[in-house]
Order: sequence, then structure tokens, then C-alpha cells
Amino acid sequence: MSATTLLERTAPLYDRVKTLIPPIEWPVFADDIEAILALKRQRNAVILAHNYMSPEIFHCVSDIVGDSLALAREAVTADADVIVLAGVHFMAETAKLLNPEKTVLIPDSRAGCSLAESITAADVRLMRQRHPGVPVVTYVNSSAAVKAESDICCTSGNALKIVESLGVDRVIMLPDEYLAKNIAAQTRVKIIAWAGHCEVHERFTAAEVRALRADYPGVVILAHPECPPEVVAEADYTGSTADMSNFVDRKKPARVVLLTECSMADNISVHHPDVSFVRPCNLCPHMKRITLANIRRALETMQEEVTIDPALAERARLSVERMLAVR
Ligand code: 13P
Ligand code: SF4
Repeated sequence: MSATTLLERTAPLYDRVKTLIPPIEWPVFADDIEAILALKRQRNAVILAHNYMSPEIFHCVSDIVGDSLALAREAVTADADVIVLAGVHFMAETAKLLNPEKTVLIPDSRAGCSLAESITAADVRLMRQRHPGVPVVTYVNSSAAVKAESDICCTSGNALKIVESLGVDRVIMLPDEYLAKNIAAQTRVKIIAWAGHCEVHERFTAAEVRALRADYPGVVILAHPECPPEVVAEADYTGSTADMSNFVDRKKPARVVLLTECSMADNISVHHPDVSFVRPCNLCPHMKRITLANIRRALETMQEEVTIDPALAERARLSVERMLAVR
């Protein structure tokens, strides 16, 4: 097929990302995009993509986009034989837990997460021994083995609700220390934290936030709750990636900063030409392992398939399902 024809066929898709991708780069993407769209039909596959995916993935090949909570919910109802999880490994594991009968593919299984790597199942058992009878609330940014040792999961979008749903005065909240502290600031429930951190969000500082306010008077500052508490304290709003996106949709601030991963502002900016995005973002090297090329390869080769030991999966699934049952 001639390059001109390919460009013509993919022109409506290019239109979605034309403010982000220079025309000279599009032919490189267009070939993979067209192949991925054909492979999805052939395999009866859907692509679930996290908000941190690069724009060409987020806007051009994904069927469902969202935060961790939305991706977990959508995984339950996905009408397909194959789910490709364009995100990090714990997200693909969650999709597999909720869809044991479906094939779940991750385009690069090395796409990890510093939070998920900060804690093991043995650590959770130790925390339980130290705090007998205290329920364990585990952030979904964790392995299936850690979820299996937990009572209930949470995401950044529902953590407060989950903690308060338990009707207890103390919980163990793993593994993100900052999320735990940011939630502790909003509830009377005493929270026992672990010392895991997101390597992307821990780099933002309160001094940086103050400098942004000085440099950009009137700027609205949104922070992800994985940021340190002193950063959250200086921000105007804190929420999950979906909450931040909804905030911009609702409030349409003239100028905004998203203290989170870089692709967030790119992806949202497409729908908000009148909003000025100031971008002191940090890249997540794990999320950025996912590319159009490896999504295409995953669908061509049906690799890499996510598998979880069935006995472990059964216990881990309970923690995720308990979370999804809290509305
Ligand atoms: P969200 O659930 O807010 O999308 O966050 C996931 C994540 O990994 C943030 O770093
Ligand atoms: Fe993990 Fe942080 Fe990357 Fe999210 S941004 S996947 S929490 S390392």
C-alpha cells in the first residue's frame, strides 16, 4: 500500500493528535496504528489504556482509557476474547484477576512500578503480626501476591471511601506512604503506613509549587495523591488521574499545572485548546515502555500473556472485588 494512501486513510486519526505530533512523525505511527486496528478486529481484542499512555496510543488505538479504577471496572465488562493492557504490569494483573477466562496481554512485562516493587507478600504478613486484627487496605499498585494477603484494595480515586467503608478506627494502608498520609489528613481513621513511594510523584516539591505560583500568577495546581503531603498541601486540588481530567473538563481553568506524569497534560490538552498547560511533569519510565510497536507485536504474537497462579488469584481477586463492591 502506498504511503499516500496510508496517510489518507489515517487522516481522521491524525486530526486527533495533530497539536501534539508533527506531520513528519505521523507516517511512523500510522503504519503501526493501521496494523493494530486490523489486528484488534482479527483477534476480537480490546485495548485498555491508562491515562499516562502516549497520545498516539491514548487517542488512536485505545478502546477504553482511564485511571486504575476505571480500567479495573471496564475490565469486568470488556466484551472481547483478548484484553491488551496498555499500562503497567499491576494493571494487567488486575485485568487478569477479573477476567480469568480471557487472554490478557501486556506489551512489555518489564513495565513495573516502584510502589508495587516496594513490598512483598511476606511484608504484609509481618505487618499483620505487628498489628493484629487491623484490616489491610492495599493500593492496586501492588502485585497479585500482595493483594492476596490483603483485605481490600483501593485506588487513588476511591481510597478515602474504602478506608471509611470498613467502619474501624485503624487500618494498615499499603504500600504508598504518601497516599496513606494524604488520606489520613482527610479522615478520623488512624492509618498505619508502609514506606513505598512512586518514583515519579515523589520528585515534586513544595518549593517547586511555590515557584510555579510566583512564575504563573493565577495558575491552578492539581496534584496526584502519590505526591508528598507538603506538595498536596500547596496544591489547589488533589485527585486521581481521572479526577484531574474531570476537573479540567468542569472548571476549564485558563492556566493549569498537573503534578503528575507528562502524558496526562498532553492527552487532556487535545480537548482543551483554550487551556494553557504549564508542564513541570515527570516521566514514568515504566509506562513509557509501552509503545505502538510493542502493542502491535503483542497482538501479532499473542505475547506476553499475563498468568497468575489460580489459588493465589482467587484470594487476590477477593480484595479487588471487595473494592469494586464499594460504591
Ligand atoms: P490513577 O489510578 O490515578 O490513574 O494512578 C495510577 C498511577 O499509577 C499513578 O501513578
Ligand atoms: Fe508506578 Fe509511579 Fe509509574 Fe504510576 S507513575 S506506574 S505509581 S512508578
